[in-house]
Amino acid sequence: MAQLRERTILKHFDSDPLHMFESRVNIPAESRHALIELLNARLVDTIDLQSQAKFAHWNVKGHNFYQLHLLFDSIAEHLEEGVDLIAERITALGGRANGTVRQAAAHSSLKEYDLNALNGIEHVRVLADRLASLSNSTREAIDRSDDLGDKGTSDLFTEIVRTADKDLYFLESHLQAE
Ligand SMILES: [Fe+2]
Repeated sequence: MAQLRERTILKHFDSDPLHMFESRVNIPAESRHALIELLNARLVDTIDLQSQAKFAHWNVKGHNFYQLHLLFDSIAEHLEEGVDLIAERITALGGRANGTVRQAAAHSSLKEYDLNALNGIEHVRVLADRLASLSNSTREAIDRSDDLGDKGTSDLFTEIVRTADKDLYFLESHLQAE
């Protein structure tokens, strides 16, 4: 019985990876489908980057250790908040939030973190590159979701971009006097 149930779920997953439900939200199903795809793409990148910021938080070394340790953790916390906002927008639109660690690893568009980064400036540089990539693709998603007639989602992406750009400024300020 357990086996049969597992097969049914897998079959459903294969034929409809977005696992859409009907919804009273009055955005046409076709647009919701595109929005859920867009949101799931942003979700996996944001989960990936949250783990990368934690990697930086744990492993940074050097005389700026403590302030960077705290800064990287605050960036990871902001990304974690973004993950939850995105995931719950997906489910609010009737979709399934595909945000396990394995789904994120399989579908993220971000480059893997530089695992050889050691001192503060190296970590700041790598994290700034990754955060800029995330912020810029989320910026594109603002317009795309607006075009799809969903100001709720474009507002959500706007909020994430505003925070990501501020965190990027905090990182880049370490590099601009180099
Ligand atoms: Fe910590």
